[in-house]
Amino acid sequence: MIELSPRLSRIKLSPSTMAAQRVRELKAAGRDIIGLTIGEPDFDTPAHVKQAVIDAMNRNETKYPPIDGIPSLKQAVQRKFTRENGLDFALDQIMVGTGSKQILFNTFQATVSAGDEVIIPAPYWISYLDMTLVADGTPVVVNCGIESGFKITPNQLESAITKKTKWLLINSPGNPSGAIYSRSELQALAEVLRRHPQVWVLSDDIYEHLRFDGVEFCTMAQVAPDLADRTLTVNGVSKAYAMTGFRLGYAAGPKALIGAMIKMQSQSTAGVNSLSQWAAVAALEGPQEFLADRAAAFQERRDRLLELLNNVPGMTCDRPQGAFYLFPRCEGLLGRRTPSGKTLESEQDLVLYLMDEGGVAVVQGEAYGLSPHLRISIASSLENVVEAGRRISSAVAALR
Ligand SMILES: Cc1ncc(COP(=O)(O)O)c(C=O)c1O
Repeated sequence: MIELSPRLSRIKLSPSTMAAQRVRELKAAGRDIIGLTIGEPDFDTPAHVKQAVIDAMNRNETKYPPIDGIPSLKQAVQRKFTRENGLDFALDQIMVGTGSKQILFNTFQATVSAGDEVIIPAPYWISYLDMTLVADGTPVVVNCGIESGFKITPNQLESAITKKTKWLLINSPGNPSGAIYSRSELQALAEVLRRHPQVWVLSDDIYEHLRFDGVEFCTMAQVAPDLADRTLTVNGVSKAYAMTGFRLGYAAGPKALIGAMIKMQSQSTAGVNSLSQWAAVAALEGPQEFLADRAAAFQERRDRLLELLNNVPGMTCDRPQGAFYLFPRCEGLLGRRTPSGKTLESEQDLVLYLMDEGGVAVVQGEAYGLSPHLRISIASSLENVVEAGRRISSAVAALR
């Protein structure tokens, strides 16, 4: 076996991907499991997007694309930012990557050096941590519990900043909490950032279109235009347009930063799959009305599952304002005994119990930096989500 780089030992495989794999194995073995582990819309990719791929193929759009993105897509992204966010970017301030995941990876590889600190409010999307570590950076995790609505406060931000702070990561609507930062909350964070010119802010807006109850969406570049020269706005088509497999994300920010990220990408994947780029043009330039219908479907699932979970003694569930996860606190279930006499010592025990005895697969909060919680994805049919809620209730009712 070849000797592996020490870099590799700093990172891990995604717990939700591993849980999803376990669900597939159990289902293949004939078990009745409802898998609510994955962050992927269950809807189909829209028909006009599929057609755009066929058309692009027939036009022979199959050659190496430009590293930063085909002009038509960069223009579509430019128009998206103007239309939806009131943000004006020049084309050399925009780039396209293989998923917003690669955009984030490029960002950290291009900007983070040993000793640089990255402020990550917890709960967080796990990859922020691993990507910081693989770039030799130091994650500074700030605990943002249910009491503060899972959001970092200006005081917490002020105390977390040091001379070495490079980035603050904001993810709104957030995975796994579903929390959304209001305009005034972002303004208050911007006020802190103004006192610390060394700190850059990365806004991961991938769940922008998945919002409930008419809550407004704001992004840092919009509310604090004076911070534009140190703000990176990241988004993509995966979640809104049910296009996870196309692997297409994009970013806009200062020209020099985007240039550095393009340089980094030029030595990894280079340009994004040409057909995915044409698909994304169709998604961003095509009809947008269905986005609200899909968000409404997620909202109904949220409401139905919340109703069931809030009647489960020992669980407390905040009402997520967006994204497609519920993140109940489950402290009251730890220490209880299962019908077979096993004490639930940890979140992990609870997750295994719900999977083995309840027939529902969810992910432990620890994977997202905040315990004891469970992340329950509602990116599954209403029927599945409701049945999962019932199964969780009965499994908990059987505890002693
Ligand atoms: C918060 C957040 N950001 C980014 C991503 C990456 O999305 P993609 O690479 O599909 O654009 C995800 C996916 O789960 C996510 O939850």
